[in-house]
Amino acid sequence: MRAMAASSNEPIESMGEPNRVLSGRLIVTIDGPAGTGKSSVARDVAKRLVLTVLDTGAMYRAAALLTLRLGITPTDGAGIAKALGTHHIEMDFDAETPNVLLDGSDPGEEIRGREVESIVSLVAAHPQVRNRLVAVQRAVAASHSRLVTEGRDQGSVVFPDADARFYLNASSQVRANRRVKQLRKKGHEVDVESVLEGIEARDRLDAGRADGPLIRPDGAIEIETDQLQLSEVVDRIVEAVRKTGRDS
Ligand code: DC
Repeated sequence: MRAMAASSNEPIESMGEPNRVLSGRLIVTIDGPAGTGKSSVARDVAKRLVLTVLDTGAMYRAAALLTLRLGITPTDGAGIAKALGTHHIEMDFDAETPNVLLDGSDPGEEIRGREVESIVSLVAAHPQVRNRLVAVQRAVAASHSRLVTEGRDQGSVVFPDADARFYLNASSQVRANRRVKQLRKKGHEVDVESVLEGIEARDRLDAGRADGPLIRPDGAIEIETDQLQLSEVVDRIVEAVRKTGRDS
């Protein structure tokens, strides 16, 4: 995996303190439903604690895009898993904000589009698909031992032994409002009602599947984000990680 090799296992120098070398393992997981701000929170936590950031939702989105491109029925788990055996989903950690690559190319905004959004939960429900992507996620952690990873199952299934685990939550109405704001900023025409319906439908699929369902991992710190600014959520996580004593 190209980018993983690029910076594997090298100690990372703390940006603020040039003489301090951070080398101990630190795995932080952030799970929660769509629209809780996990990606932005994880990016900022990564900056503050000098960690690599992994957006596992982008990997499932890339698998959904591949499904669309190859014309595979989204309910055909075996077909999608077979395609994942010959096509490659990996992370580009050389990019300023690490992003997913599908067969070596950055799919860009296509993985955030309506078509992908409408099938991604179906694609992500197949155990054969999850097994493949979970293996990639663990390989990322093996070569980036200081990692903050976000998704639905990171603290429950993929890294149950993580050093610090968090679960972000918010009401579906607040999550829909946030999503609408984001989409409108990007120039998309959307109405709150249909976004809310989409979010609730995805929640049902993500929480109802047998393999790696969306749950609050046992022992994870839950943060209710309805009334919190992004920076407040980041502060709470950074503070809790520092309390573990594993942040340096
Ligand atoms: O976080 P997101 O909205 O980009 O996630 C896209 C989809 O992928 C979502 O429907 C849930 C699924 N997903 C998953 O099943 N497991 C993960 N670890 C991350 C995302």
